[in-house]
Amino acid sequence: MNLFEEVQPVTYSEGEVYFLDQRALPEETIWLKIDTLEKCYDAIKTLAIRGAPAIGIGAAFGMMAIAKNAPDSSFDEFYSYMKNAKEYLERSRPTAVNLSWALNRVNDIILKYKDKPIKEIKDKIEEEAILIQEEDEEVCRKIGENGQQFIKEGMGILTHCNAGALATSKYGTALAPIYVAKERGINVHVFADETRPLLQGARLTCYELYKSGIDVTLITDNMAAVIMKKGWIDACFVGCDRLAQNGDAANKIGTYGLALLAKAHNIPFYVACPISTIDIKTKTGDDIPIEERDGSEITEVMGKKIAPLGIKTFNPAFDVTPNELISGIITERGVIRAPYDLRKAVEALNAGKGKKHDLIQVE
Ligand code: MRU
Repeated sequence: MNLFEEVQPVTYSEGEVYFLDQRALPEETIWLKIDTLEKCYDAIKTLAIRGAPAIGIGAAFGMMAIAKNAPDSSFDEFYSYMKNAKEYLERSRPTAVNLSWALNRVNDIILKYKDKPIKEIKDKIEEEAILIQEEDEEVCRKIGENGQQFIKEGMGILTHCNAGALATSKYGTALAPIYVAKERGINVHVFADETRPLLQGARLTCYELYKSGIDVTLITDNMAAVIMKKGWIDACFVGCDRLAQNGDAANKIGTYGLALLAKAHNIPFYVACPISTIDIKTKTGDDIPIEERDGSEITEVMGKKIAPLGIKTFNPAFDVTPNELISGIITERGVIRAPYDLRKAVEALNAGKGKKHDLIQVE
């Protein structure tokens, strides 16, 4: 079994959907069978599956599994059931736009085939979920290739949270250039922030990079400034959950602070994401909904209380890095540079130039 098979967040075989339970990693490999709306919602909400593209893929396969239980005596009945499921899943995690993007694709398919028998619509949902996963693999590969220009032998790279294979179908976004570089015989040193409070950096990024033989060093979040000052970091690569029209980028809490540190130390700061992460309806980062999670995530560590009972908490899961701190946005179509005007790109798409789900103006 190769690394990418071991760290596949969603697997689908013989009509059954399974999510790799990322809450249990790196200690245990547990597969969750997803066959109801509630199981799918819960897996996304509790981060059993997480990372913007993986959430979208998981939700699309979830819709396929949910469709099996849907009433099928008429299209209206079927659609109303599926629409409720879509709206419910959309509420599971509000920041990553890839979730509603994938759910909208499934919804479009249902409407497109509304005059066909329900059995056929269900088959089309299955085809769309598989397509979303296959496209993501290709997209991540291209992000990896487009990021090669920023990778040099022996350089030090800092990353935050997990934007690797576990967050996508394969390769990841921020980690894709590192995987592709390794394939080409270019080796780098990766420093992974642990990423409080849920430790995606320590548990997931370190797990997948270490397993794949990439040189990785774990640091706590508050050590980034020190290693930058020491000159160990040549570039930062992070993922993204939602890109506003003006290039402001929402990503895991702590990303903004890293971007400020990178600026202070004159280190380039790259955001890597698929074009589906652009939310054209969102003008600036101020308009991005930021998920706030339960305070117990920061008052407890591994189930043990570390703060006084009743303490007030503030636990946003994401922050927004202002566009001026971003050196480039690495996408499957190339690298977008400042001044960022992501609306223009999407307008061109709507005008019919370029392929659907795949268009942007880049350098
Ligand atoms: O809360 P998470 O683990 O879903 O947050 C994930 C991130 O912030 C990733 O960087 C982002 O989703 C991009 S994944 C390619």
